[in-house]
Amino acid sequence: MSTEIRLEDRSNLNKQQSREVRKRSRDLLVSLVRPLRGKIAATVTLILISQAFAVLGPLVIAYAIDTALPQVFAGNALPGAVSVVAYIVAAIGEGVLVAVFIRMTAKIAQTVLLNLRQRIFRHTQRLGLEFHESYTSGKIISRQTNDLESLQALVNSGLSDLVSGVVYMVFVTIAIFALDPTSGLVLVMFLVPVAALFAWFRRRSTVLYRESSTRSAKVLVQFVETMTGIRAVQAFRRERRNQAKYEKLAGDYRDTNLSMMWVFGVLFVSTTLLGNLAMGTLVLVNGFRVIDGSIGVGVLMASLLYARQFFDPIDTLGEVYNSFQAASASLEKISGVLSEEPTVVEPSRPVHFERAIGDLRFEHVSFGYDSEHIVLPEFSLHIPAGQTVALVGTTGAGKTTIAKLLARFYDPSSGSVQLDGIDLRLVAGTDLRRDLVMVTQEAYLFGGSVADNIALGKPGVSRAEIEAAARAIGADVFIRALPDGYDTDVSKRGGRLSAGQRQLVSFARAFLADPAVLILDEATSSLDIPSERAVQDALDTLLSDRTAIIIAHRLSTVEIADRVLVLEGGRIVEDGSPAELTSGTGQFSQLHKAWRESLV
Ligand SMILES: Nc1ncnc2c1ncn2[C@@H]1O[C@H](COP(=O)(O)OP(=O)(O)OP(=O)(O)O)[C@@H](O)[C@H]1O
Ligand SMILES: [Mg+2]
Repeated sequence: MSTEIRLEDRSNLNKQQSREVRKRSRDLLVSLVRPLRGKIAATVTLILISQAFAVLGPLVIAYAIDTALPQVFAGNALPGAVSVVAYIVAAIGEGVLVAVFIRMTAKIAQTVLLNLRQRIFRHTQRLGLEFHESYTSGKIISRQTNDLESLQALVNSGLSDLVSGVVYMVFVTIAIFALDPTSGLVLVMFLVPVAALFAWFRRRSTVLYRESSTRSAKVLVQFVETMTGIRAVQAFRRERRNQAKYEKLAGDYRDTNLSMMWVFGVLFVSTTLLGNLAMGTLVLVNGFRVIDGSIGVGVLMASLLYARQFFDPIDTLGEVYNSFQAASASLEKISGVLSEEPTVVEPSRPVHFERAIGDLRFEHVSFGYDSEHIVLPEFSLHIPAGQTVALVGTTGAGKTTIAKLLARFYDPSSGSVQLDGIDLRLVAGTDLRRDLVMVTQEAYLFGGSVADNIALGKPGVSRAEIEAAARAIGADVFIRALPDGYDTDVSKRGGRLSAGQRQLVSFARAFLADPAVLILDEATSSLDIPSERAVQDALDTLLSDRTAIIIAHRLSTVEIADRVLVLEGGRIVEDGSPAELTSGTGQFSQLHKAWRESLV
């Protein structure tokens, strides 16, 4: 009993969620379409007129054969001439209007897509680390590619085909009833099996569409996982197993696609068959009526012309229905990304710094990446301006987390992190980025020259300053040895830098930025001993008049610190000068002893 209730609750919850999702994507659609509503109305009007022209043709033919022709034989050429002119005008009118509305829909579609593309980029770029660390890059790429493409497929041709198809069927129905109600009844009668057929198609294709999208996602995930982890794949000889798995998934995907094609095939064949049956019935019924003189040959002709194309839009409807399913799923996913709110928000009235002094404080901070796992339970720390602090501790102790909180990639769940006594949540983002610089293990370089990458630290800087910064941290020698020296493009083959070289470039960048607070998180981990020595010499100058936090596993880096903090499970367990801690009996002295022994 209770499980039943719970199940019902859950399904209610799901229903509510999917209602919200639908509302969210509807709102997005409205916001995209609203600015274009004038143009859309104009396009729909054009479609209406062009389809009216399209159904005019057979009516003119009926008139020409049954009314104008006898008059021409009787010596009055005027009705004949009128029919010819009317037919030509209708044909040309339809052609021109179709061309115009195709252009207009393309323009509307591209405007909508461009707008959406820009919105996705702007928004995902604005979203914080919290989003990017959980939403994989593969998913973001899908939003920008597959999802936009499936929307494009729908808006480019699907929608106008759908509208013109439906309008055409309605107009033909009106025209044929106006011309001859009996023929109209025959055609409408055939709509009954067509409707049943389409209902079947909808049911099958909805099921198959779901299956096909989960299967295609599986294929993609397997591909991306294998290729992004290619080093591990090759190192552990996983190729054959991965290939077998991939082939199985790709085979499943093919099977679904084949079933989908089969369903389409049934729809196409059946509508053609029904169309032909309708024509046959009309030939029979109207043929007898022509013989007994109740209708003219013209009416027979016109009814056949109408019947011939009457069912064509059904096939289009089937195709559009499928691209509609894909597009609405895509729109739901895109609206999901767009509705993500950045958790770290810029203050509405930010505090500006001329230049921060560099006093850092954690006040009763607690923080976890999710509500279940607390990383920092209750963390308080004061680092006076100008101090060089070494932060050591076991893997997973929370060192990087402390750095991320200082750089305000995240906000604490409670308590406050302060720079110069001001809560980071109130500090202007641009000032914080200028005054607090973080150099990490994964030194990221942007496409462009080495010089550009160093200059990132201080936009608009001169070449001489760039080179001076590189010299100061000992990166100058290797940069000069690159194919184009400072102008070497780091994204090109030959310009690819090693992990250690990248770290040196980001050191030069930090040196040039000259921030009040510098955080080095494993920043020398990829350097060899001589390069590390060079950086350490540079650190003496680099760290002299600023606050610095050095996170390092290699204890050699720690010796230049004024103060060492040992972190354990998000808590500070030792705090003192390197000399004090080394001579003591705590964790650090043991670590230090082990390290010294390893050197001998
Ligand atoms: N993006 C994240 N999402 C969820 N949990 C995370 C995330 N980053 C870190 N954690 C967790 O937070 C804890 C502290 O991680 P943190 O990266 O601060 O450790 P660390 O002291 O820098 O370790 P290391 O010496 O290995 O760099 C770990 O238990 C880790 O599992
Ligand atoms: Mg770390």
